Amino acid sequence: MGIHILATEHMTDLASKVCERLKDKNFLYAEVEYVHFPSQEVKPRILTTVRGEHTYLFHSLHHPTPNDAMIKLLLTNDALARSSAESITLVLPYMSYLRQDRKDESRVPISARVMANLIEANPKVKKIITLDTHCDQIQGFYDISFDNIPGSVVLAPYFQKKYNQDLSDLVVVSPDYGGTKRARDFAGYLDGRDEIGVMEKRRSGDRSNKVETLGYQGPSVEEKNVVLYDDMIDTGGSIISATQALHHFGAKKVYAVAAHGIFSPPQVDITAEERLRKAGMQAVVTKTIPRSEQYQQENEDWLTMLPLDELLAKAVLETSTPGGSISSLFRKKNTT
Ligand code: R5P
Repeated sequence: MGIHILATEHMTDLASKVCERLKDKNFLYAEVEYVHFPSQEVKPRILTTVRGEHTYLFHSLHHPTPNDAMIKLLLTNDALARSSAESITLVLPYMSYLRQDRKDESRVPISARVMANLIEANPKVKKIITLDTHCDQIQGFYDISFDNIPGSVVLAPYFQKKYNQDLSDLVVVSPDYGGTKRARDFAGYLDGRDEIGVMEKRRSGDRSNKVETLGYQGPSVEEKNVVLYDDMIDTGGSIISATQALHHFGAKKVYAVAAHGIFSPPQVDITAEERLRKAGMQAVVTKTIPRSEQYQQENEDWLTMLPLDELLAKAVLETSTPGGSISSLFRKKNTT
């Protein structure tokens, strides 16, 4: 008897590291096998008995595509339920489709809500653990327990260490108005400050990923280093345009910082990685989206990826312990 940790194909490395950290706490690793048919259908099979057990399933909702990943998740949940697991907690460090959280034009779906309905259709799924959702209101799409851990818990200590606690030279900036709360939270984790800068971002009306950054409000960035804090870097358009504007306003070094490094190709002839490297970016993200060792080595000149196994091991432990507190993991100093 024990609590079982399982992982879909792209998450085995993270899940086994988490399990290793919890091996003295009655956690066991259970293998899942995936059969991929020539027709592209997929069939999961749980290789260990989980009857009557609580299970934690680690999954990437990005690999190989967000759409394939959702089907794989639903099928794995079904396999666990049909294996008589007592409960399923989903550890989904990055959740796709969360940007489609409202009707922002006529005759479009609210895709984030559709995804929530699909996930909750399986009654054994009792809880979700994730990081930095695009907006906090996503929690309201779910009736099950939903723990949203701020990426700042991992990202702020990186900058505290890098600047050796002397953070007065660093200005925290949100690349758009929508991200103001997130950036202010990061600033709070950094050194308890409240003041941040905000940029005005506009996308061109043709649904392309062209981004225009128009202005800046906040403390002067002249001769300062800047942490440009967003929830995700996708094609890189937002962060590149904001960085260029900040340099124009006199900033020294600009760090593009986000929980999620998605890095989708902006066009057919260039990858996001090449585009960000060419633009001279320095990016820091967490490993919510798994990448190979080779990928990390090839991109280490501009990209730092921070591990999540310690944080997620604590999250798994707190959520599985009666009286445990997940909020204790992301409490800022001097708060309750
Ligand atoms: C938008 O509201 C998000 O917070 C990100 O700023 C955006 O999705 C990043 O996308 P990209 O890197 O393609 O500009």
